Amino acid sequence: MSTVPLIELRDGALIPQLGFGVFQIPPEETAEAVKTALHVGYRHIDTAEMYQNERGVRQGIRDAGLDRAEVYITSKLNNGFHAPDDARRAFDDTLKALATDYIDLFLIHWPLPTLYDGDFVSTWQTLEEFKITGRARSIGVSNFQIEHLQRLAQVTDTTPAVNQIEVHPYFTNDTVRAYGADHGIATEAWSPIAQGIVLGDPVVQRIAEATGRTPAQVVLRWHIQRGDIVFPKSVTPQRVRENFALFDFELTDSDISALTTLDKGEAGRTGPNPDQFDYIPR
Ligand SMILES: NC(=O)c1ccc[n+]([C@@H]2O[C@H](COP(=O)([O-])OP(=O)(O)OC[C@H]3O[C@@H](n4cnc5c(N)ncnc54)[C@H](OP(=O)(O)O)[C@@H]3O)[C@@H](O)[C@H]2O)c1
Repeated sequence: MSTVPLIELRDGALIPQLGFGVFQIPPEETAEAVKTALHVGYRHIDTAEMYQNERGVRQGIRDAGLDRAEVYITSKLNNGFHAPDDARRAFDDTLKALATDYIDLFLIHWPLPTLYDGDFVSTWQTLEEFKITGRARSIGVSNFQIEHLQRLAQVTDTTPAVNQIEVHPYFTNDTVRAYGADHGIATEAWSPIAQGIVLGDPVVQRIAEATGRTPAQVVLRWHIQRGDIVFPKSVTPQRVRENFALFDFELTDSDISALTTLDKGEAGRTGPNPDQFDYIPR
């Protein structure tokens, strides 16, 4: 079995660089998918209140016969709960759903700069409370652009431990990544294989043939060598195993740069633009 490196976050906590994402896994299928991933060897699960499958994550950990403390769990504050009192209630609900008294990492899911009078600062200050009381071991943000991170830096006391953003070869998001690197904010790359879109690219295919690995392994290895944290999602056991086998081969510098030059800038973004995104689940 391959060994997943641990990355030290700015607050001293250690996070496995490779995890398992559960976005779009239906609640009733989540326990089985998580159990499969844990049996393969994953020890880091990325969920969110918005995914409605936190309970399934907890059940999957139980079904795998593991203690809660053996698994690194991330969840995220849903978009409708940015007001501080709502955030406190939502955080309690997340801990309840996960049947735990602490979470390893809690994130603001989206900055929502067009909602709440543009105030994500008081939301962040509420997450700071969760960190101070130890109920969140680490706190961070997701989908924050540079100007959002700058605003937090100007008016708050703590820097997010991570920024979870869309990153893959068609959307390298390197400006936001570089800001993170300069300010001690670890980048977590969501949709690391762009939900499969990048896998048929001729450059990815060529490197896969040359290394004898699959296109998904090549793209995931590119993220690992760039130093980002990734958690590919799959409900297919064979793919769950494939995506975990990333630590017994290396890409060359020229492979890495060939993949990085596939970047299409904004045209390569597959998810919403955080500057405009204002979805509140009902
Ligand atoms: N913070 C945010 O706003 C945000 C947004 C999106 C995602 N995320 C997080 O990032 C995680 C990963 O992103 P994602 O789920 O959007 O996409 P992804 O991991 O890039 O891709 C998942 C898709 O690729 C397929 N797939 C997985 N492994 C494969 C392989 N080896 N070969 C071929 N196809 C493969 C899966 O199919 P099957 O499942 O059918 O096998 C699924 O359709 C999420 O689960 C979530 O935890 C966060």
